[in-house]
Amino acid sequence: MVDDIKVGRNEPCPCGSGRKYKKCCLSKKGINLGKKRELSTDKFRIQLKNKDDVQGIREAGALTLEALDLAEVHLKPGIKTADIDKLIHEFIVKNNAIPAPLNYKGYPKSICVSINEVICHGIPGKRIIHEGDIVNIDITTILNGYYADASKTFFVGKPGPDAKKIVSVARECLKRGISMVQPGNTVGDIGWAIQTYAEGEGCSVVREFVGHGVGFKFHEPPQIPHYGKKGDGVKLVPGMVFTIEPMINLGERDLNILDDNWTAITSDGSLSAQFEQTLLVTDNGCESMTHYTL
Ligand code: MF3
Ligand code: CO
Ligand code: CO
Repeated sequence: MVDDIKVGRNEPCPCGSGRKYKKCCLSKKGINLGKKRELSTDKFRIQLKNKDDVQGIREAGALTLEALDLAEVHLKPGIKTADIDKLIHEFIVKNNAIPAPLNYKGYPKSICVSINEVICHGIPGKRIIHEGDIVNIDITTILNGYYADASKTFFVGKPGPDAKKIVSVARECLKRGISMVQPGNTVGDIGWAIQTYAEGEGCSVVREFVGHGVGFKFHEPPQIPHYGKKGDGVKLVPGMVFTIEPMINLGERDLNILDDNWTAITSDGSLSAQFEQTLLVTDNGCESMTHYTL
C-alpha cells in the first residue's frame, strides 16, 4: 500500500536502491519494493506492504481461515490434540502451503492447541479434548511466501459460566482492538482499548506475549502489546500489517512455562482465552486479512 507515496524527485528512492527517486522508481509504474522491501516510516524497520504483498497475505489468510474451520469440525470430545495437528498439517500441505510453526525456533508441530488454563503455544500431543473445554487453535500458513496468522477459541460441548465469560471477554477485546486500527492512531491506542475493557470486566491481560507485524516473516516489527496508554508507541500508517491477539485470563495475569519450553499456562490455573486476526492498515481504517465475525 505504498504505491501512491509522495516523494520528491531528488530525494532518495523509497525502494532502497540508494539512487535518486527520479533516476529510479519515478519512471516505473510504482515503487519497486521487490528489490528491497524495507521502506520503513521510522526507525523501527517496519516493512510496509504494497498491493501485491497485500493480495498474497489475503490469499494466505483465506487458507488459514479454511484450516480453522476444518479444525472446528473435528473438535469433539475424545479427539487427541495430535490428531487435529495431523489433519491440519495435511490440509495445509495439500494446498501448496507450509504450516509456519513447524520447526519455527524448534517448535515441533504444525499448529498450537491451547486448552483451558493453557494461555498459548500448547503443543499438540496425547492430551484429549473433553466436554466443557475451551480450546484455542492458532494457525499460521505460508502461501507463496506470504504469512497469515489467526486463532479462535472454541467451546467443546456446552460451556460453563466461567468458560462463557472468558471467551466472550477475549472476543470483545479483539473487536475493540481492531476498532482502533486506522492511520494516525498508535499501537498504544490498541493496547489501551483492550486493557481497559478486560480489566473492567475483572479479567487480566497477559504481558509476555504480544501481537506482531506479519506477512513477509512470522514475526516482524512492530510489537503490539495488548495493554498500554492512549497515544503511546508507533503511529499506524497505511500498508502496515500486524496481528492483534489478546490473551485474557479469568484470574491473575501471571504465567508459567512448562518443561517443554513452549506451553504457557496461567499460574493460578484459571481459564485463558484468545482470538487473533491479521490486520492491514488501509487509507481510512483497516481490513482484516483473516476476517471472521467477532
Ligand atoms: N501463532 C503464534 C502467534 O500468534 C505463534 C506460535 S509460535 C510457535 O504469534 F512456534 F509456537 F508456533
Ligand atoms: Co500471532
Ligand atoms: Co497465531
